[in-house]
Amino acid sequence: MKALILVGGYGTRLRPLTLSLPKPLVEFCNKPMILHQIQALVDFGVKHVILAVSYRAELLEHQIRAYEDKLGIRITFSLEDEPLGTAGPLALASKYLKEDDAPFFVLNSDIICEFPFEALYNFHKSHGHQGTLVVTKVEEPSKYGVVVYDTKGQISSFVEKPSEFVSNKINAGIYIFETSVLNRIELKPTSIEKEVFPKMATDGELFAFELNGFWMDVGQPKDFIVGTGLYLNSLKAKSMLNTPNTECIVGNVLIDPTAKLGSNCRIGPNVSIGANVVIEDGVCIKRCTIMADSVVKSHSWLESCIIGWKCRIGKWVRMENNCVLGEDVVVNDELYLNGVKVLPNKELSKSVAEPSVIM
Ligand code: GDD
Ligand code: MG
Repeated sequence: MKALILVGGYGTRLRPLTLSLPKPLVEFCNKPMILHQIQALVDFGVKHVILAVSYRAELLEHQIRAYEDKLGIRITFSLEDEPLGTAGPLALASKYLKEDDAPFFVLNSDIICEFPFEALYNFHKSHGHQGTLVVTKVEEPSKYGVVVYDTKGQISSFVEKPSEFVSNKINAGIYIFETSVLNRIELKPTSIEKEVFPKMATDGELFAFELNGFWMDVGQPKDFIVGTGLYLNSLKAKSMLNTPNTECIVGNVLIDPTAKLGSNCRIGPNVSIGANVVIEDGVCIKRCTIMADSVVKSHSWLESCIIGWKCRIGKWVRMENNCVLGEDVVVNDELYLNGVKVLPNKELSKSVAEPSVIM
């Protein structure tokens, strides 16, 4: 089977991290986001993954090629001259998608869940129509595509980012299509959510498959932090979270084996710590991601933050409220940071008490 992953878009909502790496390569729980998806596809038996790319393809291609051999699959880059939106890339890649008559998966690249490919495939086959999308329930549906469907799953309406409440069931960004769907899509910038799904719903050709378990679009910092907690929880439930058993650890914590922890720390819950990170003595970290090669000096306190690669956090620093540090940021001793986003290669020597962007 084949799958196409939509990896375009500039990932602006995940800046400053996406100033250093394309969004699919940003690590989520110590693994490039896109690898979570590719591995799940491979586990189901997908042999050919098409990456629909619209920018900075060189870096992506360089890194992804390494996985081709490791995972024993074929990976094709389908490169857009201009961004083709969420449907146009299917038309561009149609020669690959039509290589045989089998249905194919399509995924947004910034979502995290327990990918239900097998059950989705079986459900799709059972109703025999052109497409099935995975739906999940959320508190705040207005920032997603909202779907209305009957007890058999047949979708009667699809509304992208509705301004008024329609339903709390939303498009989770995972689809399976028959190749006949390609006849609905032209090779030009097109939104699958605004231009293709509403029409398929009217024609009775679109079905909903309800997801069990957690789901999150981790394409913005706040959701990335919440998603980390949900993902670690699911690893824990499957006994796949090897948290070191020391007094320092509270709740679910993922620590790369090369990271070093000082004494008298309090790490967790819901913390992910990358390769070669150094955490000095007496540090407290809750609900954070610390990317590879960063250092947190003694007695600092971090809550709900994402620390990019190669950062240096000084002693007695306090950071909270969805701060995001880009690559190679230095935070001097004793500073307080509240909700700030700091661009790469910056040294901070003053506290910032209000959420803002530091260039
Ligand atoms: N190749 C390519 N070209 N990919 C693109 C382009 C493009 O021009 N524009 C966006 N993408 C990719 C993004 O990288 C992402 O993987 C996916 O398409 C969806 O784009 P987002 O920008 O993340 O959309 P969203 O999060 O606002 O909404 C989408 O996802 C929600 C679930 O997270 C929609 O599909 C919603 O209906 C859905 O509920
Ligand atoms: Mg998204």
